[in-house]
Amino acid sequence: MARVDALVDGIYRICTTVQLPDNTDFQFNQFLIDDERPALIHTGMYGLYEGVRDGVAEVLDPSKLEYVILLHFEADETGGMDRFLEGAQHSTLAGSAMSAILNLSGWNYSGRVEGHTEGEVIDLGKHKLRFLETPHVHHWDSMMLFDETTKSVFPSDLFIQPGDQPPVVTEDLGSMMCDYYREIGIFAHDQPVRDVVDRIEALDPDWIHGMHGGSLGRETIPHFIRALREEPVGYQGKLLGREVVPR
Ligand SMILES: [Fe+2]
Ligand SMILES: [Fe+2]
Repeated sequence: MARVDALVDGIYRICTTVQLPDNTDFQFNQFLIDDERPALIHTGMYGLYEGVRDGVAEVLDPSKLEYVILLHFEADETGGMDRFLEGAQHSTLAGSAMSAILNLSGWNYSGRVEGHTEGEVIDLGKHKLRFLETPHVHHWDSMMLFDETTKSVFPSDLFIQPGDQPPVVTEDLGSMMCDYYREIGIFAHDQPVRDVVDRIEALDPDWIHGMHGGSLGRETIPHFIRALREEPVGYQGKLLGREVVPR
């Protein structure tokens, strides 16, 4: 079962909370934009498809989706893409040009694909989604989106918060976020992250809608930005909490 919450001006958070093997909660958020051309931003893993689709159906008919947007190629971002596209006849998969080159060609994927580069815009009607290429935060093909209408950043795995979080987080969880990044090891190095943090700050966003945890409003964003600037987040020898010991 996914929980659906209206966030701002036609943007909905479809949240599935799962229990990890260590008995902690972890959230997978997909974002639905209800507009003239409806869009779903990331899909969740293959196994979450029914719940996410039912969440979409609480707001609009999933067969009316026109865009399924992936921000990098990874199971939680893209696992449901085939089925969402199959269920929506006029939909297109949109991602970074790098995702299209690296991951959507040379495999057996045969659906409709658009690969985008920095600054290109998808016009949904009211909402305009601008692509930010953000390589190595955390994959080679990573990108983020900026909705110019609501001044919302969709940063996928940046601004992560583990645990069962409310739809909008107002607490300063910046240090917890950085601790968690060092534990799971998803960024190779601090610098690409800090460069992107500068770019996000320059956009002066009203909202940040991360994939894991709650959305952040204007008053909360600076706490997380400060932590990302001041605390290390790069790989320190751990993957998902496991020490990698060369033998
Ligand atoms: Fe990811
Ligand atoms: Fe993710």
